[in-house]
Amino acid sequence: MVGLSRRSVLLAAAAAVACARQTTYIQAAEQGLRELAAAKGVDYGAMVTWKSWDGDNALDRDDAFSQLVQRECGLIVSAMEMFWGLNSQTTGAFDFSGADDIAEWAQAHGKKLRGHNLLWHEQTPKWFRGISDAAYAEKMLVEHIQRVCGRFAGRMHSWDVVNEVLSSDTDRPDGLRKSKYLDLLGPGYLDAAFHAAREADPKALLVINEYNVEYNVDHNERKRQAMLALIDGFKQRNTPIDAVGIQSHLWMDRRDTFDQQVLADFLKEISDRGLQIMITELDVIDVGAPTDIAARDQAVAAYYKDYLDVALANPAVKTVVTWGLSDHDSWITHYNMDDFRRPDGKPPRPLPFDADLKAKPAYFAMADAFRTAPPR
Ligand code: XIL
Repeated sequence: MVGLSRRSVLLAAAAAVACARQTTYIQAAEQGLRELAAAKGVDYGAMVTWKSWDGDNALDRDDAFSQLVQRECGLIVSAMEMFWGLNSQTTGAFDFSGADDIAEWAQAHGKKLRGHNLLWHEQTPKWFRGISDAAYAEKMLVEHIQRVCGRFAGRMHSWDVVNEVLSSDTDRPDGLRKSKYLDLLGPGYLDAAFHAAREADPKALLVINEYNVEYNVDHNERKRQAMLALIDGFKQRNTPIDAVGIQSHLWMDRRDTFDQQVLADFLKEISDRGLQIMITELDVIDVGAPTDIAARDQAVAAYYKDYLDVALANPAVKTVVTWGLSDHDSWITHYNMDDFRRPDGKPPRPLPFDADLKAKPAYFAMADAFRTAPPR
């Protein structure tokens, strides 16, 4: 091994692992999640990336991963390739390379494609942050939506037109999160965004996507009420919207505040307003679950089942997406957030497949939930 640089050693090791992963994807069950969900009129899918970001699996290079996605997913979500901030370095520009590739892959493999997202306070391009003129800001915002939605018009299952527009700790009566868009354009930026998306792609389902609306705690309840009021306002103003996306990042250490009836009531409030419901970023942050892997995986699996049993009981839930497939790729593994770090220092296990793409108890819990769900 002497003389070999550390880099070449690591590369060799990575290649060995990649090679091993290439061959180890084992069919977990007779029917995959895609088929089981489709049998009940539900689209199951996952957020995937075209190219690798943190050394994670990617469609552009990992055959075993690609096979897994083909078998288990009826729908894929493109996030990194669609983020405005990440893909727009200069005024009015957008790097479509990754988005084009992932859209082509989806089409070639008969997968529905969800776009995440058009507007998000965490993905506002630097050049847009410098704008002070409201009319110019609205023009740039609308042109962005026309550019991105227009490019994939007729090929999208749905778009998260706006993401995380509500905040638990705002003093605004409408519960809207302070952002560059709100500062410059007021709440009307939401209507402008949805109208621009509908015009650019009349076929795509238009979604408002939100988090921290799942638990029986005051700040979640405030967001639920703010969401319902927002929808009522859109309806009064004939602002086009088709669905509410519930991110569903589930916290093991908040399990005691997860109340199935509270969630069921909220979902009914949404479906009574004629909107679809999408579970858009499902995973389990397993801080608070046992260190023992078997016990931890069982606890995570039970959480998936309890959550999906409530969600799937409402026929307006027609889309279920996990935020990734393999623990190895999860943002909970990569993202620099203390709340995700387990006190025992063990790597998180938030998703249906482990780092070797082996199905975990959570996978079988999801399969059961789809199998026992009422048909849409
Ligand atoms: C996360 C991605 O998974 C990370 O890779 C990225 O670095 C940051 O964003 N809510 C959302 C998603 O709406 O877009 C976020 O995704 C996770 C939380």
